[in-house]
Amino acid sequence: MSLRILNIPKPLLLAPMGFVSGGALAAAVSAAGGLGLLGAGYGDAAWIREQFRLAGPARAGIGFITWSLARQPQLLDVALEHKPAAVMLSFGDPRPYAEKIRRSGAKLVLQVQDVETTREALAAKPDVLVAQGTEAGGHGGQRSLFALLPAVKALAGKIPVLAAGGIVDAAGFEAARALGADGVLVGTRFIAADEALAAPQAKQRLVQAQGDATLRTTVFDIVRGYDWPAHITGRALRNRFSDSWHGKEDLLKNRLSEERSRYQIAAEKRDYDTAVLFAGEAVDRIDSVLPARAIVERICR
Ligand SMILES: Cc1cc2nc3c(=O)[nH]c(=O)nc-3n(C[C@H](O)[C@H](O)[C@H](O)COP(=O)(O)O)c2cc1C
Repeated sequence: MSLRILNIPKPLLLAPMGFVSGGALAAAVSAAGGLGLLGAGYGDAAWIREQFRLAGPARAGIGFITWSLARQPQLLDVALEHKPAAVMLSFGDPRPYAEKIRRSGAKLVLQVQDVETTREALAAKPDVLVAQGTEAGGHGGQRSLFALLPAVKALAGKIPVLAAGGIVDAAGFEAARALGADGVLVGTRFIAADEALAAPQAKQRLVQAQGDATLRTTVFDIVRGYDWPAHITGRALRNRFSDSWHGKEDLLKNRLSEERSRYQIAAEKRDYDTAVLFAGEAVDRIDSVLPARAIVERICR
């Protein structure tokens, strides 16, 4: 595996998970030999500054949701003030930001979901690509990693490609390597890390969940008021809310004000029968909450 460009002893990146990947988790993953990325997708300037402060002297990168960054591009400047080792962009055209990121000295990491987004990403001349399979937790596309990764690899030429989606242990790491990955980007497994920002109840629910119980849906974005592009769905643990509304999105939109206030109360109470818990299919193999270092060591043995 060759990820020399990122200058990390272990070829593992922490996914920039919104509401999960804060400074403490990013620093712990970097200290264990990988590279932690702050999940700034829903963060504002104050959040970004605070999480870099919490990361301390550790090397850290940061990830943005590209279409959302287009609405508040000044957040990229805030991030670059902290000299991130890498900036990851996903879900949208990265070209308007690529040059600024590269000039700052940060490596440009672009996450792709299919051949079309790979071609778009390559036009921005990335340092690293991440092929995200549909197994992944959180937002993503429809293609499975097993078929997508070799296709991205073939287009990428000499650009290193990381595998993302469903990797939680050494077996997943080895499988990704067999498919040609130069490293891995891991999200869901780190939700159940001691240092993650996720609530203790969310971590426990993840430990108990089975992979059969995840689905790709838009209902949580509709109720939270995030206007994600229609073709991008979020993989989450099924719960009472998704059982009620998945497949009835138009009805949900008609009843939004009532359902939104109900949802917000549940989210504040950390009631995950209603509130979303984004997670990938490999939750079957997550059986305990561990320090991030132990997770890194289990994956990159
Ligand atoms: C809780 C959660 C939040 C996520 N938030 C983001 C995000 O804000 N931006 C992003 O590019 N990817 C996000 N992702 C997707 C990750 O970048 C990555 O593709 C995924 O976690 C990899 O699959 P895995 O979860 O099976 O490890 C998120 C994933 C999860 C589980």
